[in-house]
Amino acid sequence: MKIFLDTADIDEIRQAARWGVLDGVTTNPSLYAKVGGSYDDILREVCTITSGPVSAEVVADDVEGMLAEGRHYAKIAPNIVVKVAMSENGLEAISRLADEGIRTNCTLLFTANQGLLAAKAGASLLSPFVGRLDDINQDGMIVIRDLAEIVAIHGLEAEVLAASIRNPLHMTQAALAGAHIATTPFKVLQQMIHHPLTDKGIAQFKKDWAAANEAAAAKG
Ligand code: E4P
Repeated sequence: MKIFLDTADIDEIRQAARWGVLDGVTTNPSLYAKVGGSYDDILREVCTITSGPVSAEVVADDVEGMLAEGRHYAKIAPNIVVKVAMSENGLEAISRLADEGIRTNCTLLFTANQGLLAAKAGASLLSPFVGRLDDINQDGMIVIRDLAEIVAIHGLEAEVLAASIRNPLHMTQAALAGAHIATTPFKVLQQMIHHPLTDKGIAQFKKDWAAANEAAAAKG
């Protein structure tokens, strides 16, 4: 499973890239609002850090507006993927952007049917929101599993991107459910790295190493 970072924070993206685990980045208007500045500049910089897909979200409601924003973002870098929310107009925009060779990520998916339609319209990435479904007492991972199976059974081109990830368990579950990609907040990525027994083990090894060296030095 590929791992994307779900953030517009350049420092977080650089750190994940240094760890060698970064396959791409997803942004959205809310994540952008947290960092501010110029969205175009942020996208440009992110695309210099990763050559993987970088999602840039359109906010227009009408098809022509979505197309204009999408074409604009697509010009920023070859690895930009235009993020379009699921709607009747969104599907049309996805279809027309696909005709122009512009890759799209259909976002705000909450059912496998929505994902199936997005794939048929030509979206490259399908983003069901796991956490937001869990928040309303529905099992978000079921949508990931169903959609991944639909994509596999019918040999669809699109990839399932598990979004709205809230904890490390979601990452494991998304991988087991067949998600091609999961996009995670930086904090969850850090949580995936650490385990109390790992940290305790490192400290113990350091302590034993120092003690052994002190004993060797004392012996001369
Ligand atoms: C990513 O593509 C989504 O916009 C994001 O994962 C949504 O996450 P949230 O539900 O935590 O806002």
